[in-house]
Amino acid sequence: MTKYVIGNWKLNPATLTEATTLAHAIKKMADNAGCHVGCTPSFVHLAAVSEILSGSKAWAGVQDVCAFGATGAFTGDVSAAQATDLGAKFAIIGHSERRQYHGEDNALLAKKISQTIEHGLVVVLCIGETKDEYEHGKTLAVLDTQLAVLDGLGVPQEKLLIAYEPVWAIGTGLTPTVFEVANTHRHIKAALANKELDEICVLYGGSVNDKNAAEFASCDVVDGALVGGASLKAESFSVIVQAFEKSA
Ligand code: PGA
Repeated sequence: MTKYVIGNWKLNPATLTEATTLAHAIKKMADNAGCHVGCTPSFVHLAAVSEILSGSKAWAGVQDVCAFGATGAFTGDVSAAQATDLGAKFAIIGHSERRQYHGEDNALLAKKISQTIEHGLVVVLCIGETKDEYEHGKTLAVLDTQLAVLDGLGVPQEKLLIAYEPVWAIGTGLTPTVFEVANTHRHIKAALANKELDEICVLYGGSVNDKNAAEFASCDVVDGALVGGASLKAESFSVIVQAFEKSA
C-alpha cells in the first residue's frame, strides 16, 4: 500500500517567501517519492503553495474548514469550497489544537466533515488521547468516542484518512513505543471495520522526526505520518518521506 507523509505546518512559517521556498522543496521530493506527500499551509499561503504544487505529485491541504457553509455570513471562516477552488486536495479535521483552543467537539466536527466531503476534499481526521487519559488506560475508549463522529455521515472510504496523534506526543519530543502505536492502530482499524470502513489508512502523528521515522515506518499498520515541527525543514521532512517510501 502506498503510504502518506503529510506536513502540518500549523501557524507557520511567518512569511510567504518561506512558505513558497518550502513548497518548492516539497514539490521536488514528492515528484521523486514512492509515497504520497502533502502539506497544509496556512490559509493565507494556500493559493501560492497550491500554485507551486499544481502539476506535481504533492498535495496541498488545509488545516480546518468552516462547519456551516460554502459561502455566507461566517466572519473569519474559510470554507472547504474555497479551499477546493484554490487546489486543495484534503483537509485536516479535528486536530487536537482545534479541539483544545477552539472547543471543537464531535457535533461541530461532524459538520466540518460533511462540508469537506461535499466539496470533494479528503478528510484527514485526527484523534488522540491526552496524557491523563493515557496514564489512566483510557486511550482506546477515548478513540472510540472520537471515531463515533463518523457514524451516520456516510463518508466514502476513499475520502478518509485517520491520523492517530496522542495529544501528549505533539510537539513534546515524547512518543508512545512503536509497539503501543501498532496496538492502537489495530484497534482503530477494527473500530473502522465495524463501521464498514475497512480500507482506511491510519497515520501516526506526534513528534515524528528524521531520527524516529524509520522505526514507525517499519510497522505494517502505520500507513504514514502526520508531521508538525519536522515538516518545516525540507531536510528533515525529506528523510521522513524516504523512510515511508522504503517501507511502502
Ligand atoms: P509534531 O506535530 O510533529 O510537531 O509533534 C504533529 C501534529 O500536530 O500534527
